Amino acid sequence: MKKETHGIQFPEPIDGSDFDYIRDLVKDHTSIALDNSKVYLVNARLLPVARDAGIESVVALIRHLRSRPFGDLHYRTVEAIVTTETSFFRDFFPFEALRQEVIPEIIAEQRGGSRSLTIWSAGCSSGQEPYSIAMILREAFPQLATWSTRILASDVSRAMLEKSKAGVYSQTEINRGLPASLLVKYFRQNQTSWTLNDEVRNMVSFFHHNLTRDLPVLPPVDILAMRNVLIYFDVETKRLVLDRIRRYLRPGGLLILGTAETTLNLDERFERVRFGRAVFYRVRNSETR
Ligand SMILES: C[S@@+](CC[C@H](N)C(=O)[O-])C[C@H]1O[C@@H](n2cnc3c(N)ncnc32)[C@H](O)[C@@H]1O
Repeated sequence: MKKETHGIQFPEPIDGSDFDYIRDLVKDHTSIALDNSKVYLVNARLLPVARDAGIESVVALIRHLRSRPFGDLHYRTVEAIVTTETSFFRDFFPFEALRQEVIPEIIAEQRGGSRSLTIWSAGCSSGQEPYSIAMILREAFPQLATWSTRILASDVSRAMLEKSKAGVYSQTEINRGLPASLLVKYFRQNQTSWTLNDEVRNMVSFFHHNLTRDLPVLPPVDILAMRNVLIYFDVETKRLVLDRIRRYLRPGGLLILGTAETTLNLDERFERVRFGRAVFYRVRNSETR
């Protein structure tokens, strides 16, 4: 029940044990650590879930969840709390580094060799990150058409994977970072949204993956973008995830993190490598798998 004071509706406070329940639920399914400062976030994100389920308040939703075994509503609750903020060509410089330096170097190195390129976007949210990479490959590296080129993309959120696969974006999502030339070339407009064409959509293979739980079998990865994911984990989980994903990188392969993230003081087996205004991380030569 909402409290009403002078016409203003205040959300009912979530008490300690209800918040602990939500914190454990989210931690169990995603490893995301919610501290007590996130009470407002939980309230704001769960209100639409409660409304959709026909439940009068967030507190009533939590009580409902607590009294039942894990089911679809629990799943939707977890998904509502996970931050899935993303955009096309987010932060710009990492994509410029891929286009101007990293991919040309890989192509030059492997010209007479295996001619394979594997890129993995882990924690891909609604797909803008892997699709931005796919558009770069298509635009700048036509020679890769004869290579074995894979763009893999994964997320723990099934809702985000569905959205990614559909490749349908609102005008607001399009306005955030997508150059007009790429919009015109690769998207078709529907009433209020834009659909990515099959040519680019088919370049990306999406799969469900929890970075702290699952160990999928993948080809050696040349470039692993895991941006703005570690930031939501506690230190112990960050270390675990870095240790796991390091093993997927081929020798010399590169890890790309978000601008507020680093491997420093977490995993010294990575070294920082600067490409223009972007910083990536490479497994040190002395480190074996
Ligand atoms: C803030 S978004 C980042 C999206 C994109 N990488 C970017 O930087 O724009 C974080 C994504 O990580 C995903 N995520 C959170 N915990 C995860 C986990 N344990 N395993 C895999 N993905 C996870 C979330 O579902 C969300 O889509």
